[in-house]
Amino acid sequence: MSGINIKYTKLFINNEFVDAISKKTFETINPATGEKIANIAEADKEDIDKAVAAARKAFSRNSEWRNLDASQRGKLLFKLTSLIERDIDELGRLESLDNGKTVSDAVFDINCAIDTFRYYAGWCDKIHGNTIPADGGVICMTRQEPVGVVGQLIPWNYPILMLAWKWGPALAAGCTLVLKPAEQTPLTALYLAALSKEAGFPAGVINIVTGYGPNTGAAIASHMQIDKVAFTGSTIVGRKIMEAAANSNLKRVSLELGGKSPLVIFDDADVDEAVEIAHNAIFANHGQNCCAGSRTFVHEKIYDEFVKKATLKAEQKKVGDPFDSNTEQGPQIDERMMNRVLQYIQSGKSEGAKLETGGARIGNKGFFVQPTVFSNVADNMTIAKEEIFGPVQTILKFSSLEEVIDRANSSNYGLAAGVVTKNLNTALTFAKSVDAGSVWVNCYDYVVPQAPFGGFKQSGKGRELGEDSLKEYLEVKTITIKVPKQN
Ligand code: NAI
Ligand code: MG
Repeated sequence: MSGINIKYTKLFINNEFVDAISKKTFETINPATGEKIANIAEADKEDIDKAVAAARKAFSRNSEWRNLDASQRGKLLFKLTSLIERDIDELGRLESLDNGKTVSDAVFDINCAIDTFRYYAGWCDKIHGNTIPADGGVICMTRQEPVGVVGQLIPWNYPILMLAWKWGPALAAGCTLVLKPAEQTPLTALYLAALSKEAGFPAGVINIVTGYGPNTGAAIASHMQIDKVAFTGSTIVGRKIMEAAANSNLKRVSLELGGKSPLVIFDDADVDEAVEIAHNAIFANHGQNCCAGSRTFVHEKIYDEFVKKATLKAEQKKVGDPFDSNTEQGPQIDERMMNRVLQYIQSGKSEGAKLETGGARIGNKGFFVQPTVFSNVADNMTIAKEEIFGPVQTILKFSSLEEVIDRANSSNYGLAAGVVTKNLNTALTFAKSVDAGSVWVNCYDYVVPQAPFGGFKQSGKGRELGEDSLKEYLEVKTITIKVPKQN
């Protein structure tokens, strides 16, 4: 159907593609059809040990990687970036096949990944410490050193982009890594592993292990020879990662978890523009987005007009084959997630929200869900509290700035927030008061490599992107030098 040749299905350890020691495999599925794409090697603890040993060796004091000039690390990252650019069409189709997003969305993500790699490539030789006027006439300086071997666990919603967010700062900092892609979407990570070898990264710097979370992923989180773990995914698993770190070697932990992000539309907004922003905020990537604007608060004066127009917009969305260039929304990632979304829709109906459009599965092949809009949503309904991770817009009504700030903040999450208004005071008061790692004014989901991204409260710990993410991969060393007194 897709005509795509699947080249890489094995673990990538020490710059070689190898079978799992057990020879076990699992299937990766095309969510648009429910059919198997390929069998992928499934790593157990013994395979993780092998990958970590390779990463440790590549990180050892006398290794090629540790002794490269920082500028040379940058060159390797730039080279990798140009290889991704060379193969962007093939990668886009592979990502679409494995994940179900449209090919054009996949290519958009890959371009964002390219920007991320370039950004961190430029950082390599600009990471430095300070000289400090310490008491006692000593010379005191700090060095920013790589934290060591890092384990990286990424989700299925933006496979290549999440990999770039993890590899970029880790490699710029000089770490070596073992990354596990999500079991639903292993194909593009393995392809990028091959490109990293072609780019010239020394053996062991980059390792990819494929498999399921509770087995392969857990072996990374609890490994005694991994110095830091970076995780993106659900809050439930985020807790397990911290626990595993605490119970093993107290490895450093950074987490990018879920959200229930408020997007607040004031009555001075241009309604058509606000409908567009809010639509994209929730429906992008089929709603499978950690920072999705999943609580749309609309001022009572424009509420009815907004609901009508938002419903119309959702009804016009073209859902179907991700390889068709007219398609705007593909399938959900798998059957389990589709069923979860449908259950949330059911709960919305039974708890008294008004279903304006959608609400059902499309067809019985693949995992497609109709773009769905609920109005008359109350704060205590399940669909207003929990992360649905699907194409479901929930529209709530509010009447004042004070009220909407309190309601926006009445969530355990705090990943992102948005506000649409022409009033500067309203925008800034909201931006200052909302509990969120990113606040977007008159736009939404504006994420760029230069600026930090991450969660307040239970949406996470630490930051991705920008200089802040680099710090997650660095240890500070203080060197104090006693200088003889001059007479
Ligand atoms: P998940 O948290 O189970 O999966 C994310 C990654 O963690 C995958 O690579 C998985 O293999 C790994 N993992 C799972 N259990 C693990 C364990 N015990 N130890 C180590 N690694 C483990 O997410 P899932 O089940 O695919 O989705 C459930 C919900 O999580 C979604 O509905 C959504 O609410 C949220 N989610 C949030 C994401 C985000 O971008 N922040 C991405 C994916 C899911
Ligand atoms: Mg798949």
